[in-house]
Amino acid sequence: SFYNAIVPDQRYLAYLEGLKVTILISLMAIILGIAIGIIVAVIKVSAANYNMKWLSTICNVYINIIRGTPLMVQLLIIYNLIFTSRNTNELIVGAVCFGINSGAYVAEIIRAGIESIDRGQMEAGRSLGLNYIQTMRLIILPQAVRNILPALGNEFIVLIKETSVAGVIAVTDLTKAAQYIGSRTWDILPPLIIAALCYLIMVMGLSKLLSIFERRLAKGDRH
Ligand code: ARG
Repeated sequence: SFYNAIVPDQRYLAYLEGLKVTILISLMAIILGIAIGIIVAVIKVSAANYNMKWLSTICNVYINIIRGTPLMVQLLIIYNLIFTSRNTNELIVGAVCFGINSGAYVAEIIRAGIESIDRGQMEAGRSLGLNYIQTMRLIILPQAVRNILPALGNEFIVLIKETSVAGVIAVTDLTKAAQYIGSRTWDILPPLIIAALCYLIMVMGLSKLLSIFERRLAKGDRH
C-alpha cells in the first residue's frame, strides 16, 4: 500500500495524505450536514404551521438518536451495516456518517437561529400581505443568518476534530497516519504531536477567519 511503500525521508507524504483525507471528510460532511440540517430545520419550524406534527416528530427522533449516542458507535454501526462488499469506500462511508451526524447538530443550530427572530417579524410580514414562505425568505431568514453562520463555523471546527476517530472504520486520516508512522519508527509521540499541531493550526486558522467574518456581519448590522 501507499503507506508500506513510504521511505523515511518521505514521511511527510504520509502526513499530507492523512491531512488530505481529514480535510476531504470534513468538507464532504459539513456540506451533507448543512443540506440535512436545512431540510430538518425547515420541517421542524414550519410543520406546526401546516398541521403536520408527525413530520417534526420524525425529525426529533433523528435528532435525539444522533445527539444521544456517541459518534464513534454510529460510525461503527453504519460501517458494519454497509460493509458487505470488499470494495466499500471507507472514505465515503465515513463522510456520509459524519454528515448524518452533523446534520442533527446543524438542524438545531438553524432552528434556534430562526426561532431567535422575534415573532413580531412574522406577524409584520403576514400583515403586509406576504405569505408564510415569502415572510420566511424575505424577512426571517436574512436576519437568522447572522446568528446561524458563526455557529455553523463552530460546527465545522468540531467536525475537523471529530474526524480523528475515523480510524475505527479503517479510514487513514491525519490521526491514523500519525499512528502508522509511529508504528514504523517505534516512536509514537513525535508523530502524534505533529498531528496535534496540524489540527491546532487548522482550528486556529478557521476561528480567526470566523471572527473576521463575524465582525463584518456585525458591521453590516449597524449600517
Ligand atoms: N464526540 C461527541 C459525540 O461522540 C460529538 C459528536 C459530534 N458533534 C458534532 N457537533 N457534530 O457524541
